[in-house]
Amino acid sequence: MRLKLAATLCMFSTGFAFVTPAIADTNLKIFVSSQHRPEIWRQLLDQYEAKHPGIKITMETGGNTSDAQAQYLNTVMSARDTSLDVLILDVIRPAQFAAAGWTTDFSGQDMKAYLPAYAEANTVNGKVVALPAFADAMFLYYRKDLLDKYGLKPPKTWDELKAEAKTIMAGEKDPELQGLSFQGKAIEGAVCTFLLPYWSEGKNLIQNGKLTYDQTAATKSLELWKSFVTDGVAKKNIAEVATDDTRKEFQAGHVIFAVNWSYVWSQTQGPGSAVVGKVSVATLPAVEGGKPASCLGGWEWGVSAYSTHKDEAKKLVEFLSAHDQSKYMAVHASLLPTYADLYKDPEVLKAAPWFADALSVVETARARPVTPRYNEVSEVIRTTVNGVLAGVMSPKDGAAQIGARLRRIIR
Ligand code: GLC
Repeated sequence: MRLKLAATLCMFSTGFAFVTPAIADTNLKIFVSSQHRPEIWRQLLDQYEAKHPGIKITMETGGNTSDAQAQYLNTVMSARDTSLDVLILDVIRPAQFAAAGWTTDFSGQDMKAYLPAYAEANTVNGKVVALPAFADAMFLYYRKDLLDKYGLKPPKTWDELKAEAKTIMAGEKDPELQGLSFQGKAIEGAVCTFLLPYWSEGKNLIQNGKLTYDQTAATKSLELWKSFVTDGVAKKNIAEVATDDTRKEFQAGHVIFAVNWSYVWSQTQGPGSAVVGKVSVATLPAVEGGKPASCLGGWEWGVSAYSTHKDEAKKLVEFLSAHDQSKYMAVHASLLPTYADLYKDPEVLKAAPWFADALSVVETARARPVTPRYNEVSEVIRTTVNGVLAGVMSPKDGAAQIGARLRRIIR
C-alpha cells in the first residue's frame, strides 16, 4: 500500500495546526455485468468500503449478454490492461481465463462450502481460479393469473405448453400477447436454447472430450423451437430476442410463458413491473417422452492476473463470495445462492418463495460442454439456432451444419 502525500489536517484548540501523513487509498476496479443488478452489488461494495477504510472500489459495468462481456474482457485481458482488478465471469469461462493466464489463483481456498458444480467450475488442474458469485439455472416463468383463469396447470411437456398458450391467446384476444418467449438471438443463451430439448431427449453433445452429437435429436430440437414461431406462439422476430428482452416483455405483461434465469424474478416483483403477484416459476417442460433438463448457469469472481492490487482484490472477492453476501443477493436481486442451506433460509424464501424448489433444479442442471474450444462450439450452435429461427435455413440443414462444423472443432 502506498503512502499518501495528501495529508490530514489536524487542528488543536491550542491554535496550531500540523499535518499527519495518511494511508493512501487503494483503488480497486470491479467489472460487473450490467444485466445482473449492478446497483445491488454496489450496496455490498459500499458495505465493504465502510468496513475497510483506505479501500475505494469503482465499478465498471458492461455487456448485456455473456458473449458481449466476454468479447470486451478478451480485449482488455489480451492487452494486459492493469485497470481491472476483479472480473465477473460466466460459469463457462473460468477454465478458459485460467488457461490464458488471465486469473490469479486463490491458494488454500476451501471450496467445500459451495454447491459442488461451482466448486468444480472454479477449480482448474487442482487450483482454485475464481470464487462463486451466484448460481443459476433456466426455469419456466409463467402467468399464474392467466393459467388459473383458463383452469390450466403448468405444462410438463413443450407440446402441452404450446396447447395451453394457444388456449390463452385465443381467449385473451390481445394482439400483443406472446405465448412463449425464449432466446433466439445469436447470444450465449441460444446455446442453452438448443440444448434444453436436446438434453431432454437424453442426448449429450461432448463426453470425455469426444463428440457425441446426435443429428436426429438436434433436428428435433431446432424443429421444436421453429414450430413455436410457425404456430404463432412465439413472435416472428424471436431471432432478435436476447435474455433481457424476454425479461422486459414478460415484465411488461406481454408474455404468458418465458424461458429465463433466476435474476428475472426480483424484477417482476419490483416497482417497474406490470405482473406483480401474477407470476409463478416452474421447472422447464420436457420433450414428449423425455426428461426435463435445465442449463447450468452462474457467475464467478476472478482476480485479474494484471491487477496491481491482487491481495486486496482477493480479499474483496472472498467477501463477495461469502455466505452473507450470497444471501443478500438472493434476497435483493433473486440471484440463486451458491450455498445449499440458503435455499431453506426464511428471508430468502420470503423474497423468492420458489427458491424452495430451485436447489434440485440447480443440482441436476446440465453443464454446457467443457472443452478448451468452447468459444467455437458456442459460436456454431448459437449462430445456427439464430439462422433457423430467422428462416435462413431449415432445422434439418441447421442440424447437419452443426454436426459438420462441430466435427471440425472436436476431433
Ligand atoms: C445467464 C447464466 C449464464 C449464461 C447466460 C446466457 O446469465 O447465468 O451462465 O451463460 O445466462 O445468456
